[in-house]
Amino acid sequence: MYVPPNVVDNNDLTRVMDTSDEWIQERTGIKERRFAHRTEETTTTMAVEASKIAIERAGIKAQDIDFIIFATLSPDYYFPGCGVLLQRAMKMKEIGALDVRNQCSGFIYAISVGDQFIKTGMYKNILVVGAEKHSFGLDFSTRGRNVSVIFGDGAGAVVLQPTDASSGSATNQGILTTHLHSDGESAEILAMFNPGTHANHWVEQTLADFDEAEMGEMFFSHAMIDKAQVFPNMDGPTVFKKAVEKFPEVIMEALSANGLQPSDIALLIPHQANLRISQFVQKKLKLRDDQVHNNIQKFGNTTAASIPIALCEAWEEGKIKDGDLICLAAFGSGFTWGSALLRW
Ligand SMILES: CC(C)(COP(=O)(O)OP(=O)(O)OC[C@H]1O[C@@H](n2cnc3c(N)ncnc32)[C@H](O)[C@@H]1OP(=O)(O)O)[C@@H](O)C(=O)NCCC(=O)NCCS
Repeated sequence: MYVPPNVVDNNDLTRVMDTSDEWIQERTGIKERRFAHRTEETTTTMAVEASKIAIERAGIKAQDIDFIIFATLSPDYYFPGCGVLLQRAMKMKEIGALDVRNQCSGFIYAISVGDQFIKTGMYKNILVVGAEKHSFGLDFSTRGRNVSVIFGDGAGAVVLQPTDASSGSATNQGILTTHLHSDGESAEILAMFNPGTHANHWVEQTLADFDEAEMGEMFFSHAMIDKAQVFPNMDGPTVFKKAVEKFPEVIMEALSANGLQPSDIALLIPHQANLRISQFVQKKLKLRDDQVHNNIQKFGNTTAASIPIALCEAWEEGKIKDGDLICLAAFGSGFTWGSALLRW
């Protein structure tokens, strides 16, 4: 994992918007988050730092990586994606690089795709990364406070490799199953509409004001900027209600698929959306405190990076041992959600 050194606590945010440490902690559990250096760090440079550590711990070299899967909603460029920038920055071979745009469930989708390539024998060393530089694109005025207090920057990475379960210390080691879902009915509930090609097609409300032009010129407009239509939008309470329904459902789906119970989970690593959501899920599944890893208090919601950051932190703290059953689960914009069950 890599998080930028710059710590931004809740009191720092009160200098630019009408909010309070008490409100943020009570509603989200967040005390502080990290913000990338405005000009010296990007989503990809943070991913490079996390990837170097993952590759070193896997005992291989960057040139051994044979496929990249990069999950982010805050890419360096609108296109091309961050995967190729990572390939360039790490001087990797001319391998495939795939970008995943599934927001908070991006990392689960990414390891699910990687898992299929490993299981079919197509690749041997897949680098899976989740990274975000949210701080560059949020509305830090009071208008945007329901969104901007939640998010933080950072990156996490893993290397996926095939394993011969019969020779390992634990049998049936690795990614047991993954479970992916979506429901586009609520696509606009948590979304950044602009720039985009939507032309206000999907909903009756105006998502973007366009300048007059005979052709084109609908991607960016002066009006869009003047009317602050260039920031993420979120109906927080609706996201909350759906998240507390779907998290337990998709975790139970993973357990049932493997004939297991919540009590079998050594560690649940939920996407760090909101501490209250994690606590609700913990209660619903009757999990003890030591069965759930949360770190949103320190890093905020880092979207696609939150699960690999939490996984790395939990492993470094000795909370994950060989043979442990680890459950990863996420829910977010789309809506999309998913889970993965791993035997470490
Ligand atoms: C965003 C969230 C923390 C807001 O908490 P909430 O209890 O639902 O609060 P509401 O949005 O209903 O707003 C309550 C009030 O707080 C205000 N408020 C919103 N953000 C605020 C902030 N940062 N500081 C102070 N007040 C704030 C609102 O303006 C509203 O004021 P009003 O009652 O005068 O209109 C909560 O809905 C949430 O966490 N939802 C899930 C979001 C999430 O997980 N997103 C990521 C998905 S992966």
